[in-house]
Amino acid sequence: MKGWLRHAGLHYPLDDLPAVLTAYKKIMATSQRYPNSLEVLRTLLGPERLRGVVCEFDRGKAEVLRERLRAQEWKGSALELHEGSWRTLGPVPLVNGPWLVSMDPMTYMAEEDGPDDDRIRRADLRRVLDLVAPLDRGGPGALAIFCYSMDAARRDAFVDTVSEIIVPSVSDGNLRCLETTARGGNRHVGALISQDTSILDGVTAAWEALARGAS
Ligand SMILES: C[S@@+](CC[C@H](N)C(=O)[O-])C[C@H]1O[C@@H](n2cnc3c(N)ncnc32)[C@H](O)[C@@H]1O
Repeated sequence: MKGWLRHAGLHYPLDDLPAVLTAYKKIMATSQRYPNSLEVLRTLLGPERLRGVVCEFDRGKAEVLRERLRAQEWKGSALELHEGSWRTLGPVPLVNGPWLVSMDPMTYMAEEDGPDDDRIRRADLRRVLDLVAPLDRGGPGALAIFCYSMDAARRDAFVDTVSEIIVPSVSDGNLRCLETTARGGNRHVGALISQDTSILDGVTAAWEALARGAS
């Protein structure tokens, strides 16, 4: 992402920016003023189109988010802050309309279960299914799991486990992996699962445009 920030002004014609860079420009993002992904969504969609739950485990970061959600530019949104782990979230309400579940675990651990931390394991992927199940009945949507800094074996295990546990359980789900190489050769992988191939195609095209611009 820091690469995108650096390249935002250099490589893209202004009228043809990928959406995330349009948002970065509007927010005037820099590596010192690095926006939460919520701010990117607000900038692109408008606050009134955002409702749901934001989870943040870290008390200091949760406080910053709470302040932001009270700010004028967030007026009209219906976002609730869950200060705690996503694993303690409980059932999410049924949504009628488009939905997104987006997660940012630091990495994947190839083990059955573990402590309530910032990594994701097999049992967690089954917990994610419980979150997605009611949404999956409401309308088109997508589940995104961004996992960072994985060597080749860990990356393959992550993708295989998502394919095994998540994909068959989201109705007509398809998986698309968006990948980039981190410093040292490890992979950052975004696993995107949706029953709607137009969502997957749109995100893949945007991802490829970003990759072209940053190269
Ligand atoms: C990679 S960061 C990304 C945060 C956010 N998506 C953004 O755009 O800034 C991951 C975040 O997850 C939080 N976190 C870690 N473990 C968590 C958990 N079990 N439940 C909820 N949040 C957690 C961390 O405090 C951190 O802010």
